[in-house]
Amino acid sequence: MSEHILVKNIKDYVGKTVTIKGWLSNSRSSGKIAFLQIRDGSGFIQAVASSNDLNQSDFDALNSLPRESALTVTGIVTAHPKQKDVFELQVKSATIVSRSEHFPIEKKDHGPDFLLQNRHLWLRSGKQWAIQRIRNTIINATYEFLNREGFIKTDTPIITATACEGTTTLFSLDYFDLGKAYLTQSGQLYLEALISAHGRVFDFGPVFRAEKSKTRKHLTEFWMMDAEMAFFEHNDNLAIQERLVCFIISKVLAENIPELTMMERDIAKLESIKAPFERITHKEIVKILQKKGSDITDDLDLGAKDEVIIAEIYKRPLFVERWPSKIKAFYMKRCPDDPNYVLAADLMAPEGFGELIGGSQREDNYDLLLERMKAENMPIDEFQWYLDTRRYGSVPHSGFGYGLERLVTWISGAEHIRETIPFPRMLYRCYP
Ligand code: 4AD
Ligand code: MG
Repeated sequence: MSEHILVKNIKDYVGKTVTIKGWLSNSRSSGKIAFLQIRDGSGFIQAVASSNDLNQSDFDALNSLPRESALTVTGIVTAHPKQKDVFELQVKSATIVSRSEHFPIEKKDHGPDFLLQNRHLWLRSGKQWAIQRIRNTIINATYEFLNREGFIKTDTPIITATACEGTTTLFSLDYFDLGKAYLTQSGQLYLEALISAHGRVFDFGPVFRAEKSKTRKHLTEFWMMDAEMAFFEHNDNLAIQERLVCFIISKVLAENIPELTMMERDIAKLESIKAPFERITHKEIVKILQKKGSDITDDLDLGAKDEVIIAEIYKRPLFVERWPSKIKAFYMKRCPDDPNYVLAADLMAPEGFGELIGGSQREDNYDLLLERMKAENMPIDEFQWYLDTRRYGSVPHSGFGYGLERLVTWISGAEHIRETIPFPRMLYRCYP
């Protein structure tokens, strides 16, 4: 019996006999030779089966095997005569584990509805595979960076009694005798309690927004990483976000060049991402956008068209900071020189991929926080625990949250956010 190896390790086995176990992603035949594209999850390899090396019935079975059948093949690893870092398997024997029925996803272009309806099968195709590998690198890089910076990963509840990011996008559920509860929009408020125990914390989990928007950038269920840091002020907050983003990019460039190549991603654009990122105030960007024809005003959030204009001007990520307080969340700290503005920043992706990160310094003064919550008619009783964080050892603190799928869309160059999560949840889709 030869050793069962993963395709990603194939380069260490040139000249040796090994076994690969996977699925037939494609094949072609020249009569006496069958070229089998095999996918084992870790990578793709071409296995070459010749009728000279196999008995006729085995060869015929391989040569007529439908796409997506499962098989194991044993053979000798050879380096491609012309292409560097490309290896092949010269098949000596093969076993068919299961013959596939006719696979519904063809090589031709299918419409997005068909692909989404068959998402469980579509996940096997090359680009979809590459996106999930890049997503995995981004997750691991985030843990590595934050652990190294003295954070601990912690967990915040999914079922909550209150809203974190306003009440317009809440999914509600009936919670026994306690009445309405909601699916979390962000774990931030709970992290603000945890910093007094651990200093620097992050969570990483699914969050929910009943977004009625049907765009390339919105999901109703997505994964958020929220980080919260005691004794961090606004500029410290931006600096750590910048370093995190650069670290993530460097990891993807180190580990995922084959995947980026499959995505036809312009790698030079990723290589050009270096700290520090440019910063501009909301007021300034509004002026620039108005000059470029946008109908944005001083008290409006950036719209989709504004994001396009920003991407034309700025080729690298951009912090838009100092936002009007009335369009931002209640927990943000007022600017010391003007209470009409808050110490918040959104990090905008280049190339039109939109907002990657939302963050702010938090209001740490009990009275000011309470005043703002009352002004917004928030249910103070439900937030008593949160207000307590400002009563027992309140400190200046800041935090931010990234949307994992936004980062994956930008870095991988995927066409639409729905391709970056295995099973997307959107306004009109909850299947499969
Ligand atoms: O800007 P947001 O709403 O910020 C918060 O929730 C803060 N509590 C985070 C914090 O300070 N800890 O959301 C954060 C990020 C956005 O920048 C965006 O990347 C992503 O989450 N996001 C979405 N991603 C996909 N689909 C949606 N509907 C999204 N809404 C926000
Ligand atoms: Mg935001």
